[in-house]
Amino acid sequence: MPDIPQMDVNSVTNVSVAAILANQHASGAFVASPDFSQYDYCWLRDASFVAAALDRAAEHDASRRYHQWVARVLGAGGIGPLMETATANQRAGRETAANELPPARFSLDGRRVSDDWPNFQLDGYGTWLWALDLHLRSAGTGELSGELRGAVERTARYLSVFALQPCFDVWEENPGEVHTSTLASIHAGLRCAASLLDDPALTDSAAKVFDAITVSAREPGRFVKSNRQQTADGSLLWTAPVFNVVNNDDPCYRATVEEIQSTLIFDGGVRRYASDTYFGGGSWPVLTCSLGLHHAQVGDLRAAERCLDWSVCRLDEHGRLGEQFGGETRDPEHYREWVARWGHPARNLVWSHAMCVLLAIEIEAASHTRGPDSGPHQEKGKERGYEEEKQYESALPAGDEQ
Ligand code: BGC
Repeated sequence: MPDIPQMDVNSVTNVSVAAILANQHASGAFVASPDFSQYDYCWLRDASFVAAALDRAAEHDASRRYHQWVARVLGAGGIGPLMETATANQRAGRETAANELPPARFSLDGRRVSDDWPNFQLDGYGTWLWALDLHLRSAGTGELSGELRGAVERTARYLSVFALQPCFDVWEENPGEVHTSTLASIHAGLRCAASLLDDPALTDSAAKVFDAITVSAREPGRFVKSNRQQTADGSLLWTAPVFNVVNNDDPCYRATVEEIQSTLIFDGGVRRYASDTYFGGGSWPVLTCSLGLHHAQVGDLRAAERCLDWSVCRLDEHGRLGEQFGGETRDPEHYREWVARWGHPARNLVWSHAMCVLLAIEIEAASHTRGPDSGPHQEKGKERGYEEEKQYESALPAGDEQ
């Protein structure tokens, strides 16, 4: 294990923001990884997290260029017609062929890629709406321009009709299941679109997704991977601190975090799910930083910093941060199998940098309000969860805003 580089949170942000900006294509897209040929594409999921990190780091221009790229890609000259047809088919109860469904990833110049990649993944579209809303609010340009508005409307219509359909999960696996973290991103996306477009019908769609998320959590008392798998998944960490479906103190969310901590920690980092064998199923900075976001938001800065340090000490001498670590010792056989197929796992994953930036900034903000040495406490997370927000809003006198 390398020495933990004593980097303060500002240096972490600088290193990772520089890595992100170096990997923005002239089109505005972000490559998932510049050094792993299988990832030579822009995923809506990865890149929308990346844009969110840039906005938190006040790099609004780069984020704006990404969102404009997405608006073009989802527009009339891109996959707009495909999205409209899929939406209309779904409404009419007609099936859409798998290769005619909106894809999860694009070439860097915004084209659809035709190969056998499992493309039907709904989460990236929800994550994009969530990140766009964050961008418009943080860049102070609340207005939706023509092309962006069209893309938001189209995406929200698409998500409204497909929301509860089975699809591939955020790890591009398990088709035929409805995944809780996918629902969480859709819920956030529809909520954001409802407010951007001032459309109450989208609020109703978001409420249905919320019900689906909470109903499946009720009996086990925690969020579960999918409607067919009652186990934990690292992406469930996003339910509170990222997508804000519930508050960090929600009992089901708390139980989910405990379950993840007791079943998915390997060598101090967080794995995707217990039976993961991809490159030996090591621990991911993306998920370890997601756990850190939860700790930071509940005020446990020491635990949040441990998550950030775990990731930062895996930066290499070139400032690269890989996708996952430790698979070669955890499960050497599967590790070797994947290396034989695809070569060394991604050494520089742009999304890994993004989550470090989000966590470093969250820690910085929390340490200003709470002091740097805080341990755990029972305060609620800094933002109101969705349900709490609804109660709060309905209690506000008409015309009052916050
Ligand atoms: C992960 C996806 C990710 C993609 C590109 C896949 O291995 O499972 O979540 O979007 O890599 O980074």
